[in-house]
Amino acid sequence: MVRFTIESVLSAARSRLYAFQPRLDGYKQFGSRRNQLPKHAQIYGIAAVIFLLLFTGYSFSDHFTAPTTAPTIYEAGIPGFNVFRNVWYNNQTFHLWDPTDAAMPVEDSILSPRTKAVVHTEIPIKGRHVVYLKGASLLINEKAGDEWSGLWHYYHFAAEAMLGGLTAFSIAESVERIESPQAYLPVVPDRLIIPWDSNWHDRWGINPLMVDALFDDVLEPEQWGKWREHDNWIFFDQLIIVDRWAAHRYNKGTQAWNKMSVDIFERPHPFEFFAPVRQRLMKHFGFHEHTSTIPNVVYVDRQSSDRRLVAEHHEALVALLRSRHERGEIKFVHAAWENHTVIEQFHISADADIMVGVHGNGLTHEMWMTEKATLVELFHPGVFLRDYQAVAHVLGHQYFAVWNDTLHTQAEWEADPGEKMSWMTHSGTEFPLYVPFFETLLDRLLAGV
Ligand SMILES: *[C@@H]1O[C@H](CO)[C@@H](O)[C@H](O)[C@H]1NC(C)=O
Ligand SMILES: *[C@@H]1O[C@H](CO)[C@@H](O)[C@H](O)[C@H]1NC(C)=O
Ligand SMILES: *[C@@H]1O[C@H](CO)[C@@H](O)[C@H](O)[C@H]1NC(C)=O
Repeated sequence: MVRFTIESVLSAARSRLYAFQPRLDGYKQFGSRRNQLPKHAQIYGIAAVIFLLLFTGYSFSDHFTAPTTAPTIYEAGIPGFNVFRNVWYNNQTFHLWDPTDAAMPVEDSILSPRTKAVVHTEIPIKGRHVVYLKGASLLINEKAGDEWSGLWHYYHFAAEAMLGGLTAFSIAESVERIESPQAYLPVVPDRLIIPWDSNWHDRWGINPLMVDALFDDVLEPEQWGKWREHDNWIFFDQLIIVDRWAAHRYNKGTQAWNKMSVDIFERPHPFEFFAPVRQRLMKHFGFHEHTSTIPNVVYVDRQSSDRRLVAEHHEALVALLRSRHERGEIKFVHAAWENHTVIEQFHISADADIMVGVHGNGLTHEMWMTEKATLVELFHPGVFLRDYQAVAHVLGHQYFAVWNDTLHTQAEWEADPGEKMSWMTHSGTEFPLYVPFFETLLDRLLAGV
């Protein structure tokens, strides 16, 4: 993760400047002819740049120029999840250059108040140096205004905002670059930008570890604020803008299910688009794909919380899984996340073939399972929310919602859209699980049918 300490800035400046290729963690200088200058001019140049580094905060406004004068392209998206090429930014305003004045989505489907989008028919600025953010930037616009932000929460941050943005990006990349979207694995965006909400570190410390593993470069409100203070213009090569409240204003699925990302998750996207992201996380922490032929069944145990199974049902479930483990049919991992470090949690999830657990944030770790995996979510009969179903859908996981002794099927919940009895998930009511029913489901899964 990029940390702009004085030392890191100075040492980066020193090592880079002598090579006359000033580069600061991706904020790159273009159009420089300094390497053709005479020696004394080079030395003065270096002194001037060091002076600027020291006395202007980290303002590089006059040093970094966009290499393009191409108009903005609207690549893909739906309200709340939009992907553009060639976007300028200054003072809370995104500037889109559209000579036709007709190709851009409406402003409030891109952004929420206090950030604006202005469409220009001429290039927004000319002859001015800008901070150039090369490659793809995923910008989560949460907290631009006064609205509720979910970034303090692992599920809302990772499985809604980030995963929604990555889905839109995969659609843009597959449309843009190749003929067969099914065969194309988009890459991970070059950087994550969280411009407004400093409070995105969840209480378990999962978000920062995940972000650190996935993105080479992270821009947070502190850096963003400095650019703002110095009235910098920023130019984005490619920009994915995620805006929770724009999604809620427009998207039908979001409105019906109160889930920010269900609509973008349902758009056709390359299968396995998430694989490079997952692999990056695994590589970062040194995990290897498990090679055992016995399915790995992870039971996410929440018995220490107030949303839990009836104690005897929990015990019967554990006994069942343990006996199947002893018979060599499965590998059973009994995971109470609170007993594991975050890295262990990632590792256990990345290894899971079947994850089973009571509805709740602990199931957000399904993100790290392979595309072949299965999620079994346990609800109290009558309760249904699409939080983890939607994530399973976009990632290609098989999904089952269990109501004690039966499945709540997709045909059933589609016929009657909307969250069902969600209050009960916060009421302390214990959830029943008829374990013989679960056993038949498990046998079906193990038989691969
Ligand atoms: C930024 O925008 C606000 C309102 O849109 C305006 O009042 C302010 O003067 C602008 N600041 C700069 C530095 O242009
Ligand atoms: C988790 O830790 C608690 C407290 O040490 C312990 O009682 C419990 O059995 C552990 N749960 C699992 C599934 O290991
Ligand atoms: C759960 O299913 C079992 C078996 O069908 C049934 O006997 C029990 O009453 C059910 N419990 C609830 C709370 O629905």
